Formats: sequence, C-alpha cells, structure tokens
Amino acid sequence: MAKNVVIVGTQWGDEGKGKVVDWLTDTARGVVRFQGGHNAGHTLVIGGRKQVLRLIPSGILRDDVHCYIGSGVVVSPAALLQEIDEVEAAGIQVRGRLHLSEAATLILPYHVALDQAREAKRGTGAIGTTGRGIGPAYEDRAARRALRTGDLLDAARFRAQLDETLELHNFTLKHFLNAQPLDAQRVADDTLALAERIAPMLADVPSMLAASMARGEPLLFEGAQGALLDVDHGTYPFVTSSNCVAGAAAAGAGVGPQALHAVLGIVKAYTTRVGAGPFPTELHDEVGRHLATVGKEFGSVTGRPRRCGWFDAPALARSIQLNGVSGLVVTKLDVLDGLPVVKLCTAYRHGARTLDMLPFGADAVAHCEPVYEEMPGWSESTVGVRDWSALPVNAQRYLERLAELARAPISLVSTGPDRDETIVLRHPFA
Ligand code: IMP
Repeated sequence: MAKNVVIVGTQWGDEGKGKVVDWLTDTARGVVRFQGGHNAGHTLVIGGRKQVLRLIPSGILRDDVHCYIGSGVVVSPAALLQEIDEVEAAGIQVRGRLHLSEAATLILPYHVALDQAREAKRGTGAIGTTGRGIGPAYEDRAARRALRTGDLLDAARFRAQLDETLELHNFTLKHFLNAQPLDAQRVADDTLALAERIAPMLADVPSMLAASMARGEPLLFEGAQGALLDVDHGTYPFVTSSNCVAGAAAAGAGVGPQALHAVLGIVKAYTTRVGAGPFPTELHDEVGRHLATVGKEFGSVTGRPRRCGWFDAPALARSIQLNGVSGLVVTKLDVLDGLPVVKLCTAYRHGARTLDMLPFGADAVAHCEPVYEEMPGWSESTVGVRDWSALPVNAQRYLERLAELARAPISLVSTGPDRDETIVLRHPFA
C-alpha cells in the first residue's frame, strides 16, 4: 500500500495536476506544495463551480484535509492572502487548515519589478515568464539574501535585511534595467502590514509532516509546473527557476526520500507549452487550433494562449526517467475526439541521428525533428466516460500505444474536469 504519493507534471506544465490531486484527496489526509509559487495555477471544477488555486494546495477543498506550503516554495504574502480571501469567499474554510513553512522564501514587489524589467530587456529573446517574480526570488534564496516567511515576525530584522537586499536590486533596476527603483520604507510598511494575517499560519512544516506520517496518514506531494521546465533537467534556459521533478518533493517539503512511495506522472493526451522555448511537436495548423480551442488552452494564471502539438514520446521518456514515474494519469483525452487521424511522435531526427529521448538544453531540442506514427481517430465522445470498456476502441488503442511508448502503466484516465469523470485502471494508493 503506497502511503505517500508525489504528483508531477511530465510535460511543460498545465497537465491537469490539480484535478488529480483533488481526486486523490478522497484518500489522502494532507497535501503538500514543495516548489514553485503563484506562477502555478490549477483550475478545479467542483460540482460545476470553477476555482483557481495558485499557491494553496488543491486539498483545501476537502474539509478534513490539511494543506502545507513547504520551505521550497516561494511565497508572495499579498498573493497568498488574496487567494485565501477568494477561497474563503467561496465558503471554504482555509484558516486552521493551511500551514506555511516559516522557512519559505518571500516574493516581494522588487522581485516582480526585476522579473518584468529583465524580460523587457531581453526583447525577442524573452523567456516568457509569468512575471510573478519567481526567478528573482529563487536567486535571492540561493544568494542567501532572501527574506523568509519567518522574518515577518521580527520587524527590525526584516527591515535590516530588506535594506541590504534592496540596495542591490535598486542599483540593478536603475542602472542596468532602466526601471524604477522601489522605496524600502514602503515595501516594509506594505509587507509588515500583512504579517498579522500570515503569522498564525506559520509552522514547522517538516515536524508537522513527520507527526502526520507517524499517525499513518497518507500524504500527497503536489508538484507545480512540469519536469521539462525543471531548472536543471528541462529545456534550459526556457525553464522555471525551481526543480519540478519528483525528487524535489523530499527537499522542498522537508521529508526523507524514503517517505515518497509512489510517483504519479500526469500527461496530457497531446502536448502544450506556454511561454517561449523549443517545442518539437508544436502545430501551427488546423489541428493545433482544434487542440487550443477544444482544450481551452489558455493559461489559468496569465490567460496567455498555450502553444499546442501532438503527443511527444521522447519528451515523456525523459520525464519518466527523471521522475521515476510509477503510474501515468492521462488527461484531456476528449480533446482528441473527432479528429480523423491522431499522431504520436515516437522519436526525433537530430542531424544524422535518431533519438528516443529528449536531449538537454534548448539548442539541442530546437534541432529535433519529430518522427510521427499515425493512428485512426475516433468520432465518439469520450467526455465523462468512467469505464475503460466504454471508451471507443480506437481511443483504447491510442492510450495503449501511448503507455507502450512511455514504458509506464496508466493508472488513471481523466475524461473531464469534474472529479467523477475519471477511469481508474490501478488506484495510485494501491
Ligand atoms: P516563471 O516560472 O514565471 O519564471 O516562468 C518561466 C517559464 O515557465 C515560462 O515559460 C512560463 O510560461 C513557464 N511556467 C511557469 N509556471 C508555469 C505553469 O504553472 N504552467 C505552465 N508553464 C509555466
């Protein structure tokens, strides 16, 4: 019996992790975010009602589930409080159930200013970040000049560190990025004004997780973004600034790796990417428009249109290798309904070589030409199907081929955004 399950995106994010986490909270007693920040966005549909979560773990929608934000997450206090207000306005009790590590790095207004000014300076070479300050906040953490959630409790200490950090960033903003510097007093006043509401949530998250595990409670570790956006293993430099692979769950949450029993890799039945960077199977034709329109492929955080393409087996193979995926969850199968032919990229041509694994770095990926296999599509709707046997035969064959190429078993197939629209082949906790 797997007790603790890590859920990760296996592509470039937006695979539908939120719904899967929500579905699994029938069994789990705690949900933990371990990396990323409010660049992530999960749109959940519960009983027909839409709810977007950016920082709060998806388990918050279940009364009896505790939610944790680990030390590896970068937290904008303003964004977190706004999200709590939205969720509480929808009638969901957050306070008392959301525990925020006192060692998480803060995203402050100068991180946002730096992120946006740098992107503007990069011009056509921009990464296409979400502009939320994620990269600059992680830089401060690595440079050991970050302000952390626990620093909100000590105004004098907060102010002293802020002055030191902001002196550097204001120099960069003014003299390198040609942008407006920020006023330290204003940043301190605005941020410390939020401290009173943040303080009750601060916790020793690793100790709470250890206590929960000692009680035998199953936990879910909810990844943000996707493995191909991982800062070390993804299509660098077109990546986010954290490790998004399953191994990061242990480091970012503060548990030992032996506490992670299974890894669920979420994969869309096709591929999307938002922001810049190489994307071998990207489509610029009618099919690409079909995927974007039917799949409603617009970012849940920034509203940007997502780039769309066919399923990419070499990219998934890399992801499975990086994450040690024990089971796959295929999402958005229904978006392929009605296409006369469906294609799967089985390999890349890279110069004179054929590759069955995504290479490292953006330049190498940019030179990959997809090799496709075609399969007949299906005209029947798969929306809301709950039994494998009720899927059209060609949809079953497509999924079987996908799993064969991935060399990983399918645990679940998601056939719609609602909790119940799920086919269970192997229960992830089994
Ligand atoms: P950042 O994380 O805002 O620095 O953005 C870096 C890259 O990661 C950009 O291409 C973003 O579009 C992408 N990205 C960040 N978060 C997400 C996400 O949750 N889903 C999909 N792409 C993301």
